[in-house]
Amino acid sequence: MVTVLSGSNRKGSETLRFAHQYADFLRKHTDQEVKVLALEEIPHDYFFPEMYSSKRQAASLRAVQDEYMIPAEKIVYVTSEYNGGFNGALKLFLDACSVREYSATFKGKKAALVGVASGRAGNLRGMEHMTGVLNHVGTIVMPNKLPISRIEELIDDNGDIVDTATLSVMEKHAKEFIEF
Ligand SMILES: Cc1cc2nc3c(=O)[nH]c(=O)nc-3n(C[C@H](O)[C@H](O)[C@H](O)COP(=O)(O)O)c2cc1C
Repeated sequence: MVTVLSGSNRKGSETLRFAHQYADFLRKHTDQEVKVLALEEIPHDYFFPEMYSSKRQAASLRAVQDEYMIPAEKIVYVTSEYNGGFNGALKLFLDACSVREYSATFKGKKAALVGVASGRAGNLRGMEHMTGVLNHVGTIVMPNKLPISRIEELIDDNGDIVDTATLSVMEKHAKEFIEF
């Protein structure tokens, strides 16, 4: 199973559009099950001072971790650029998961990174930081990371990604990750 994690918890995030598009490309090229996990759509009741005890982990988060993180052999992290790094909600989510079933959640898994940004950097710096975090927890990151910049110029009035060069590079990246 492959999970595509949309790493922005902002309501109506652009990152989720790119996550769905990436998932569509994966489904086009593999028969494996592909699930999209959107941080903006999950309950947000797992942020409290006792959250770092496995016994106190929120039941809502446990259910998300059990459905999307633990069974996934591969995870695509689609990361939005927030203040020159990846969205803090994503780090909070990873930290909150890490207190229970650490190995089953992260160790030996393969990850692909996609950066999404309004600016020119395509979250390159955030993806580098994310690589360090994922390596720390035992996840193997595909060396080819995909920065997507100036996203407002790639989307039409309906919110569809219409830039052909971007679609093409996303599909190529998804195919590479299937082989990885
Ligand atoms: C708090 C905040 C900080 C942001 N910082 C950056 C930034 O440093 N560089 C950048 O290119 N875009 C930045 N953005 C724009 C996001 O990259 C942009 O909103 C994009 O749509 C991805 O985020 P989203 O998935 O939450 O929509 C920021 C947006 C917010 C809300």
